[in-house]
Amino acid sequence: MAVSYLKRETSPQQTIFNKEDWSSAYCNVEKELDHAQLKLVKGSIPEQISGTFYRNGPGRLERGGRWVHHPFDGDGMIAAFKFDNGKINLTNRFVRTKEWTEEEKSQKFLYRGVFGTQKEGGVLANAFDVRLKNIANTHVIKLGDDLLALWEASSPYSLNPNTLETKGLSNLKGVLKKGEAFSAHPRFDPGHHQSQRMVTFGVSTGPKSTIRLMEFSTEGENIGSLLSDRKDSFNGFAFLHDFAITPNWAIFLQNAISFNPLPFLLGQKGAAQCLASKSDGTPKFLLIPRDSGKFAGQPPKSVDAPKGFVFHHLNAWEDNEKINIESIFYDDFPSIGPEDNFREIDFDLLPEGILKRSEINPIENTFTCSTISNQCCEFAMVNPHFEGLKARFSWMATAEEKEGNGPLQAIKKIDLSNNKEISWSAAPRGFVSEPIFIPSQESKSEEDNGWVVALVWNSIRSGTDLIILDSKDLTEKAILEVPISIPHGLHGSWVEN
Ligand code: CO
Repeated sequence: MAVSYLKRETSPQQTIFNKEDWSSAYCNVEKELDHAQLKLVKGSIPEQISGTFYRNGPGRLERGGRWVHHPFDGDGMIAAFKFDNGKINLTNRFVRTKEWTEEEKSQKFLYRGVFGTQKEGGVLANAFDVRLKNIANTHVIKLGDDLLALWEASSPYSLNPNTLETKGLSNLKGVLKKGEAFSAHPRFDPGHHQSQRMVTFGVSTGPKSTIRLMEFSTEGENIGSLLSDRKDSFNGFAFLHDFAITPNWAIFLQNAISFNPLPFLLGQKGAAQCLASKSDGTPKFLLIPRDSGKFAGQPPKSVDAPKGFVFHHLNAWEDNEKINIESIFYDDFPSIGPEDNFREIDFDLLPEGILKRSEINPIENTFTCSTISNQCCEFAMVNPHFEGLKARFSWMATAEEKEGNGPLQAIKKIDLSNNKEISWSAAPRGFVSEPIFIPSQESKSEEDNGWVVALVWNSIRSGTDLIILDSKDLTEKAILEVPISIPHGLHGSWVEN
């Protein structure tokens, strides 16, 4: 059992979480701060860490007494934690999307959310209103002079990386058409083809789906410019939240899922509530040759994939002609139905995320799949210098218990060469968000040399803590109190100074 930093005072033996503690994180972010110092409550901040931890997630969950139906419908709020000489300060801003600005003015939800949030006035007021609200809440990355707040169904919003002031919707120097979909999960190629680059995609879906695969320069004079661009169409509906890269391939997993838009059109459900797993469908790996790789220009390959539903992949690498990919599998698409309250969900009724490795043989059109760990997990990453290579170490958020579903309360490091693992735990009263690996100077040669940073919801004081762990052994380096309360969030990134 891992040591926890938030022990329950009344019953030290108890490790099981309390659902009110977990749901107490769902609150509106009330303040926007500029360079506010964080209060150190334990340890010291390693002075070698110099850069900014950017993090995105829903920050507005209630308006005028009405709650969003699902936290994923909450407006994007960017937090920038700047590490500077052993101190950390926070600047945070809501992304000034067109819709956020309008709703802020009227203090009402004026738009439907993809995950089921409805406007006032019942079904009639919602029927046939198919406008999508770009809530810019899923991920935040820096590309050149732009900080991009990402939301996969539309184009990114650009912000000033220092002040977090919203500049507006970005078409990435004319690359994107108006409102074009742009994934919230870019991958960063650390230099498999001389220079570093960002590889990402956009999907337009329907009975036939098209993936646009794009590579952008992330260094030198042409930073932010498009290096390659290809489009491939596939049969069937595709819900593609994430993908993985190797030097030669972009790898997608097309889940066996169907989309019935009728309840959405009729105002009964959000668009994402109309997704359902197809028990008779066959999921597919879609392998698209990268233009920078040795199969450039060749057609994509489609290979059968394991059953289950995947949002996130960990990493992928090539082993001669075979491709390995590690992914977090759910038994089914987890959805919060129109009658459910997301703050009262029964974790036992929802499928848990299980980390598995698939070995794909594109020549023989076969795959094998093995489980890496049975512990419920999410938000896994490798050292970014090893993206697309056979990485040995991974860090991720996990439930406290070794089996079954539960909220994310611990941070785990797995040695992928032997599946040995160690954990740091915030249970029973702390709840972790996505852990981010911060590479040290030595981390190019010594893969697990660095730190892990994450936000933790500290339900004892109803506030957010920022924790810094040693990435080798997960010992606590520092715990700091964040001056605002931040709900359970989505993705973030580390930008070195
Ligand atoms: Co994601």
